[in-house]
Amino acid sequence: MKLPPGARFSTVCIHAGQVPDPGTGAIITPIFQTSTYVQEALGRHKGYEYARTQNPTRAALEQNLAAIEGGTAAFAFASGMAAIDAVTTLLAAGDHVVVTDNTYGGTFRLFDKVLRKYGLEFSYVDTSEPQLVEAAMRPSTRMVFVETPTNPVMRITDIGAVAAIAHRHGARLVVDNTFASPALQQPIALGADLVVHSTTKYLNGHSDSIGGIVVATRHDDIAWLQFVQNAAGAILSPFDSWLVLRGTKTLTVRMAQHNANGIALAEFLSSHPKVTQVLYPGLSNHPQHALARRQMRGFGGMLTFDVGTFDAAREVCNRLRLMALAESLGGVETLVCHPASMTHASVPPERRQAIGLTDSMVRISAGIEDAQDLIDDLTQALAAV
Ligand SMILES: Cc1ncc(COP(=O)(O)O)c(C=O)c1O
Repeated sequence: MKLPPGARFSTVCIHAGQVPDPGTGAIITPIFQTSTYVQEALGRHKGYEYARTQNPTRAALEQNLAAIEGGTAAFAFASGMAAIDAVTTLLAAGDHVVVTDNTYGGTFRLFDKVLRKYGLEFSYVDTSEPQLVEAAMRPSTRMVFVETPTNPVMRITDIGAVAAIAHRHGARLVVDNTFASPALQQPIALGADLVVHSTTKYLNGHSDSIGGIVVATRHDDIAWLQFVQNAAGAILSPFDSWLVLRGTKTLTVRMAQHNANGIALAEFLSSHPKVTQVLYPGLSNHPQHALARRQMRGFGGMLTFDVGTFDAAREVCNRLRLMALAESLGGVETLVCHPASMTHASVPPERRQAIGLTDSMVRISAGIEDAQDLIDDLTQALAAV
């Protein structure tokens, strides 16, 4: 069981970072649930001293995700937010960051309410327009932080174009690849320096773990992130590392089904008389459909639709039976949410309006159930509004 050179994506997902356990031959990397390691003599050990610093289960996941994203090294954290926080420690007081205006609400909260206190400056722009990124760059800009597709209005940023702008100005490009997953989009191949994920979502895929990962390419970034992971200590637990490692084995087949269900629901909703708008990059009327086609290997399972009024959106959310009303996304079961009052409640109303997020929108994270069962559920919920 050895990963051949040039192995293709699904093979890498299943095997990278993992070897049979040398003691037993166990094909699955064990959960090394230990806080410390016995040393043979003073100064003589097996490379493991203390489990905040090194853990073999976490190391296997980190090697797996570095390979999947096409990076050089990866660092696993206790949540997606902890991973994003770790990336920002590459910055120093006075540094400026250009951020996708429609970034995840928790990312905006971290940047705006926590990191500004330490002298970091953030400009929020529509990164789907590269010229707005160019215009926002300052001599002090050290990082461009992009999310694509965005949540929940599904805007797409041209990763290669924004990487070129960032690099011309001596800044790093960070891509939050949570929504697409590396099965659909590999930002490092397009020019990104760092990729972050909430592994909570598609990488784990089963709605039973919270975690985050930073994938890095530059040697100076790798050395610093390794230091920070140990120094600040927000590490991913051995059990959560094992869960995500199990999740990535099925990433390719899960994403194929998420894509198929995403398209089926987007097409169904587009033709429904009570739906005024559907936001999904796989629809030919999506303003960046051509870019999505070029940049992504599938359009994913996330879509948003508008039913005209807040009351109708509430009614649809309350009447769905198979689809669960819940925050989060990327699991095998379909979830719906009302972004304005749930995931994006902490985003001020005027910012929500500026990014085109209305009170009458419902977001779907299409799971991998039979598409017809999902369509039947939407049909009965929409019949009531
Ligand atoms: C795009 C994106 N990035 C980051 C996060 C934060 O991840 P976590 O909830 O694992 O901290 C989320 C959570 O929803 C997200 O959707």
